[in-house]
Amino acid sequence: MMDSPVPFNHMKRLFRTKPLAHLYAEANDTTNGLKRVLTRTSLISLGIGAVIGTGIFVLTGHAAADFAGPAVALSYILSGFGCLFAGLCYAEYSASLPISGSAYTYTYATLGEFMAWLIGWDLILEYLFAASTVAVGWSKHFTPFLKDFFGIVLPEQWCRAPLDYVDGHITTTAHFVNIPAILLVWVITALLVVGIRESARFNNVMVAIKVTIILLIIGLGWGYIDWNNLTPFIPENTGEPGKFGWSGILKGSGVIFFAYIGFDAVSTAAQETKNPQKDMFWGMIGSLAICAVLFVAVSVVLCGMVSYKELHVDAPVVYALEKVAGDNLKWLRMAVEIAVLAGLSSVILVLLMGQPRIFFSMARDGLLPAIFAKVHPSYGTPYITTLLTGFVCSLLAGFLPLNLLGELVSIGTLLAFTVICIGIIVLRKTRPDMPRPYRTPWVPLVPILGALICLAQTVLLPGDTWLRLFIWMAIGVVIYFSYGRHHSRLRHHS
Ligand code: ALA
Repeated sequence: MMDSPVPFNHMKRLFRTKPLAHLYAEANDTTNGLKRVLTRTSLISLGIGAVIGTGIFVLTGHAAADFAGPAVALSYILSGFGCLFAGLCYAEYSASLPISGSAYTYTYATLGEFMAWLIGWDLILEYLFAASTVAVGWSKHFTPFLKDFFGIVLPEQWCRAPLDYVDGHITTTAHFVNIPAILLVWVITALLVVGIRESARFNNVMVAIKVTIILLIIGLGWGYIDWNNLTPFIPENTGEPGKFGWSGILKGSGVIFFAYIGFDAVSTAAQETKNPQKDMFWGMIGSLAICAVLFVAVSVVLCGMVSYKELHVDAPVVYALEKVAGDNLKWLRMAVEIAVLAGLSSVILVLLMGQPRIFFSMARDGLLPAIFAKVHPSYGTPYITTLLTGFVCSLLAGFLPLNLLGELVSIGTLLAFTVICIGIIVLRKTRPDMPRPYRTPWVPLVPILGALICLAQTVLLPGDTWLRLFIWMAIGVVIYFSYGRHHSRLRHHS
């Protein structure tokens, strides 16, 4: 007897791809309300804005002290190549399909609706959860900054979350809520509602501050390098996988991968870019290349100034400068604090810019309620999703122990990058004649290497991070089957 066609039809529906004609129509739709104002320079600046933050200022020290030693610079190079290969794939997609849904939309065109939903759901980890994590980090720097430089002491109960996550358990603390983190997220959300041009301007200023100060750290710190600290460059493995040696470099790259997160958010601004066909490539790859060079240079200088063993501290750059230069570079230490505050606020800005645009695209496809696809009549921004994202982000930042989420953000992003790389190979096969203003070089080598490096970086992440990812994705599957599948516009069109 033959199988019933009904389940087969259900399966087919899950993997139905969005026709390119629909995507082109959306990309060229001038009535969607979004404003095409961004230039190549503003895209590069958005990329740098999203990338330089907690990772370089904090995680470099941790990865060096615990896993890679001075070879954390090699971790940055390895992880940078994974991002470069994924970025080259992103560039092909975003030039061909310049739509604000980014990886979600690309997956819809290649691997079908269900995978697209999963990637869209997964990207919440990268954008929304990462923004909350960084907001908590910002608040951690902001309170001592006010105290040290202005003598203002904020009550601690109102600057930290009521919950903490210690040794695998959630515990309560003596604190009420993290008000500075909440306020920062609200201010940034308001800016994002008012306009993409205004947001890009604010980002430019923040980027100028942080890049200048990073160049100063590299230039002035170079003179304090003690080359003995950099020998041996790759400390011998302790016998445990991931503790120094080559496996330590790999583990370190999984940890510092967080530092690169965000360059792909540039692709969510495709529908607000003047010339996406040409400029998406430069926005993503340009910002990635600049950040990678700065990251490698900072990690060499940092591990050269003090022994890597001492770097597991809250503020490794400030610690190292204080140790080698004492009061000589006091102004630079203050400048680093300012760079951290500026740096983290632009990271949050760009991540909170990316998330609503993905929700916006999902809503236009019917996978989320239609209200999410509303654009503000005068500001030209997807304001409903921006407000919603900001609100949820502020709640997470205000109340939850976000050390719980840090590695989840990285694993979620690495997974999205892997799917993006695989998708490029699929798209070349299924749509060979699609116009491609930019073509990823050496397909399938580049996407295969990209996928392999991204997967390799997830391997040494802890097992419970995998479990949390699994639970998060399972929630996404339930929502898709209870809402998205029934409301999908593609379903009703066919
Ligand atoms: N790359 C961003 C940071 O390091 C998320 O803060």
